[in-house]
Amino acid sequence: MGRKLLLEKAHVEGIRYYDTYRKNGGYDAAEKALKMSPADIVEEVKKSGLRGRGGAGFPTGMKWSFLAKPEGVPRYLVCNADESEPGTFKDRYLMEFIPHLLIEGLLISSFALGSNRTYIYIRGEYAWIVDILEQAIAEANQAGFLGKNILGAGFDCQIYVQRGAGAYICGEETALIESLEGKRGNPRIKPPFPAIKGLWDCPTVVNNVETLAAIVPIMNIGAEEYAKIGIGKSTGTKLISACGNINKPGVYEIDMTISVEEFIYSDEYCGGIPNGKRLKACIPGGSSVPILPANLLLTTAKGEKRMMTYESLADGGFPTGSMLGSGGFIVLDEDQCIVKNTYTLARFYRHESCGQCSPCREGTGWMEKILHNIETGKGKMSDIDLLWDIQRKIEGNTICPLGDAAAWPVAAAIRHFRDEFEWHVLHPEEAQKRNFGLAHY
Ligand code: NAI
Ligand code: SF4
Repeated sequence: MGRKLLLEKAHVEGIRYYDTYRKNGGYDAAEKALKMSPADIVEEVKKSGLRGRGGAGFPTGMKWSFLAKPEGVPRYLVCNADESEPGTFKDRYLMEFIPHLLIEGLLISSFALGSNRTYIYIRGEYAWIVDILEQAIAEANQAGFLGKNILGAGFDCQIYVQRGAGAYICGEETALIESLEGKRGNPRIKPPFPAIKGLWDCPTVVNNVETLAAIVPIMNIGAEEYAKIGIGKSTGTKLISACGNINKPGVYEIDMTISVEEFIYSDEYCGGIPNGKRLKACIPGGSSVPILPANLLLTTAKGEKRMMTYESLADGGFPTGSMLGSGGFIVLDEDQCIVKNTYTLARFYRHESCGQCSPCREGTGWMEKILHNIETGKGKMSDIDLLWDIQRKIEGNTICPLGDAAAWPVAAAIRHFRDEFEWHVLHPEEAQKRNFGLAHY
C-alpha cells in the first residue's frame, strides 16, 4: 500500500464538515505554521521538493520565493481550481470530499505569502463544489481560522470563491487573472510573471488546488519526511485521475515510487484492462501531453521500467517520452482508433483557443478539419505531412501553452501511429464505417 497524505481521511464520515475534520487532526498544521515565520514556511516548502500539481511541475517553494514584496502593495494568493484538462478530475475529488484540507492549505500559504485576500477561481461547471467550499469557509471563519487576527498571530485573511464561465483557457494563470479582474480571459505575455505583476498588477502566486492542499501534510510531517517519499525530484504523493479502458476508473493517490505497469494492472489502482484486451496506448498526464504507445509507456527508450514520476515519464524527451502533467491518466485498449482520438482532442483545442495568436487560432481549426477528413475517409496521403507541418508551426510560436498543447497530441499520434493515419487514407470506405474510439473522457 502506498503512503496516503491527502486522501487518507477523505472517506471518514462527515469529514467535509469542520467538527469532524478538526477531530481528525485538521487545522493542527495551521496552528503549527502560524507560530512560525512566513520565511521559515517558504523554506520548509522549498525543502519538501513539492512541485506544482496543476501540470507544469514547477518547484513550489521557488515560485513562492520569486514573489515580489514592494512596500505598501498588496500581495495575492490565487488557487487555480479551474480544472478543465480532459482526463483530469482529481481536484474536484479533493474539494468535494475533504474541502477543509484546501482551506487549511490556503490559510497556511496565505500567511507564508502575506495574502490577506485569497481567491479560489473554480470552473463554472463545478457549481455544487462552490457550495461545499463556501460552507467550509463559513465554518473556518466561525472557528477563528479565517477572519481577523487569526489564532492571535496578528494575521488577517479572507477567502473568496469566484466561478469561471466554462472557458478552458481560464485555467492558464494569466487568463485566470484577467477573468478574475472581470475581463475576457485572454492570456498575457510572460514575463512579467504573476509573481511580479499579477492580479490588479500586484505580486501574485497562482497555485493548483492539490499543490495548496499538500502544504498541510508538509507542515504536519515536516519537509524532510515529505521529501523522503518518492524518487529523485518527484517527492511526496500525487493524485492521479485514471480513466478510459480500465477496470477501476477513479482518483488514486500514489507515492511516486510505483511503475506505470503496476499502476495500470494492480488491483490497488486501475485493476487492468476490461475483457482481457491489450493495452494500446496511454495519455499519462492530461490531454495536453504526448500519447505513448504501450511499449514506450511501460519501458523507457533506455529499456528501464517506466515509473510514475515526473522524470521517468518524461525520460527520452518528446520522441519517446511524455509527461506526468496534471495526472489525468487516459488508457486506450487495442480497439481504440488513434485518428478519432486525435480528432476529438483537436476539436477541443480549436473550440477552446482564445484566438489571440494566429498560429493557434488558424492552426487548431486547420488541424481539426484535416483530421476530420482523414477520420471520415476523405483524407489524402499528403494530409499527414501537412498536419505534421501545421503542428510544428504552432509549437513554440504562441503566447500561452494552449498552442503547444494542441500541437503535441497531433505530433505524437503521427510519430507513433502513422500507419493508422495511412490506413484511413488507403481504406476510405472502411474508415467511414468505423466509428469507435474513446471520443469522450
Ligand atoms: P509554466 O511552466 O509556464 O509555469 C509554471 C509556473 O511557474 C507558473 O506559475 C509561472 O508563473 C511560474 N514561473 C515559471 N518561471 C518563472 C519565473 N522565472 N519567475 C516567476 N515565476 C515563474 O506552465 P503553466 O503555463 O503554468 O502550466 C502549463 C501546464 O498546465 C501544462 O503542462 C499542462 O499540463 C497544465 N494544464 C493543466 C490543466 C488542468 O486542468 N490541471 C489545464 C491545462 C493545462
Ligand atoms: Fe490564445 Fe491560443 Fe494564443 Fe493561447 S496560444 S493566447 S489560447 S490563441
